[in-house]
Amino acid sequence: MNKILALLPLLLLLTAFKPAAPPQTTGPDIPAEVQTLLDKYGCAACHAMNRKLVGPMWTDIAAKKYSAKRIAQLVAKPEPSNWPGYVPMLAQKVAKADMNKIADWLTKLK
Ligand code: HEC
Repeated sequence: MNKILALLPLLLLLTAFKPAAPPQTTGPDIPAEVQTLLDKYGCAACHAMNRKLVGPMWTDIAAKKYSAKRIAQLVAKPEPSNWPGYVPMLAQKVAKADMNKIADWLTKLK
């Protein structure tokens, strides 16, 4: 019993200093199914929801109001001139069905 009481302040400290949520988790949520694909294809390494990484944030890409078809085209054959100040993205090979899911999500993102 005494041992448990002694641990209590430590537990309180731990909960108080819980690290803040990483920036990607703020803003609109990425559906789990889409997040799985972004991880699987490595997109998440360069793109985050509300933070510029190597590539533009998803919300900035969504703001371009591309059609899903156009997004699929740009991922397969990037046009770096669309994003001055960024390094060019290399062509990404994504299975059609997966690309449709990612593109569909991006067109609905606000
Ligand atoms: C190595 C980093 C990197 C990876 C991995 C990456 N991107 Fe990009 N992406 C970029 C950069 C940098 C840009 C902006 C420059 C460009 O378009 O060439 C960009 C641009 C984009 C654009 C905007 C295209 C346009 O012309 O407006 C889309 C959509 C996109 N990426 C989707 C994806 C998807 C989907 C994946 C995963 C399959 C992915 N990216 C993986 C770095 C990356």
